[in-house]
Amino acid sequence: MSTSKKWISGLCAALWAGLMPPVAHASKAGEAEVLHFWTSGGEAKSVEELKTLLAQRGYTWKDFVVVGGAGGNAMVTLKQRVADGKPPAAATLKGPAIQEWAAQSKLNDLDVMAQFDKWDDKLPKVIVDLMKYKGHYVAVPINIHRVNWLWSNNAVLKKAGVAAPPKTLDEFFAAADKVKAAGFVPLAHGDQDWQDFTVFEAVAMAVGGPGFFDKALLQQDKAALGSEPMRKVLETYRRMKSYTDAGASGRDWNVATDMVIKGKAAFQIMGDWAKGEFLVANQKPGVEFSCTVSPGTGGSFLFVVDSLVMFQLKLWESQKAQGFLAYQLMQPVFQEQFNLRKGSIPANTKVPLDKFDSCAQTSGKDFLAAAKDATLLPSIAHGMALSSAQQAALKAVVTEFWQDDKMSVADAQAKLVALTNPAPTNAKK
Ligand code: GAL
Repeated sequence: MSTSKKWISGLCAALWAGLMPPVAHASKAGEAEVLHFWTSGGEAKSVEELKTLLAQRGYTWKDFVVVGGAGGNAMVTLKQRVADGKPPAAATLKGPAIQEWAAQSKLNDLDVMAQFDKWDDKLPKVIVDLMKYKGHYVAVPINIHRVNWLWSNNAVLKKAGVAAPPKTLDEFFAAADKVKAAGFVPLAHGDQDWQDFTVFEAVAMAVGGPGFFDKALLQQDKAALGSEPMRKVLETYRRMKSYTDAGASGRDWNVATDMVIKGKAAFQIMGDWAKGEFLVANQKPGVEFSCTVSPGTGGSFLFVVDSLVMFQLKLWESQKAQGFLAYQLMQPVFQEQFNLRKGSIPANTKVPLDKFDSCAQTSGKDFLAAAKDATLLPSIAHGMALSSAQQAALKAVVTEFWQDDKMSVADAQAKLVALTNPAPTNAKK
């Protein structure tokens, strides 16, 4: 039997297994090795949910963890493992990376599962398109993260005399001055290019709006990159840095979040995986912390969708485990329990949000509104747009500018304009 035919019958068997009641001792069931990078407190708690679900049916989850927020390191390791002929059963992938792997014919086609489980009816169109390669499902989406959030420590704001989290950039800088004067760090930040770009995206959206974001950053239009709004973005971005502390070197994103949790810092601009950290620390939105849209970006939604792909494997037991995993990932019970911990909202829109907190409910409402008026945009910081090469080139300029205080705004802007716009790596070879 050809690999794909075997895979399809494995998928059917897995479907059958998925519909059967949990087995008491199915230790002979297959193992699924899953590559991921979810190691922070909140992330690890979310992964536990999935391990438990699999264990109920006797499947074993084997961790293949590559440390490093946003998954950049994981992608490097994945390439090596596949090149060595030892792909994992599944891996977390985002955005165009899904297409890049599918174009190399390394991923399993999930259409049988998708048709059976009616994925087209359960997922927003924008997500369906991201999960397919040439019209076929090759990835399962497990959530929707929003990137443009501001996390605030309510007690610090009170001590600094800031009445409410800032809604505009002007309000942000005024609040940050007060926080600084009160002896706290205004903006918690760490030391990875994607952290720098997360703040950069939020500033670009605030200063230029969604149309500018699309033209300058997603389309990499040279006129937009060289325009006055982009100069202002860079100037504002540099101003943001003056509100961070000197100890950011080597700091992970969750360590920066911890500064807000512990009341050392007032704010962090970070995606809603940060909420997972507040929850693990037993803090609640509206009580110890606030989640508000990052200053000046109300109405826009920068999104990330975490998804899993299944690599082509030969062993029948492994294929069954993969099929079962793919099936479970879309089930409401998993999407609810995982996302309650992860800080995101379910990708499966059939899952009600009534068990979710106010941050997630805002996210759900804003996602739908943004999808209607074209203000829903993919995050470059988190790999949802552009080829890997384009993302890397943009991030390198932005991080150099963030780190080198001597680099002028004009020099940084000239570097952005000079980017060569390499062809997407998923282009036909
Ligand atoms: C994002 C990813 C999230 C989250 C975060 C920090 O790119 O989509 O799932 O874990 O990085 O690692």
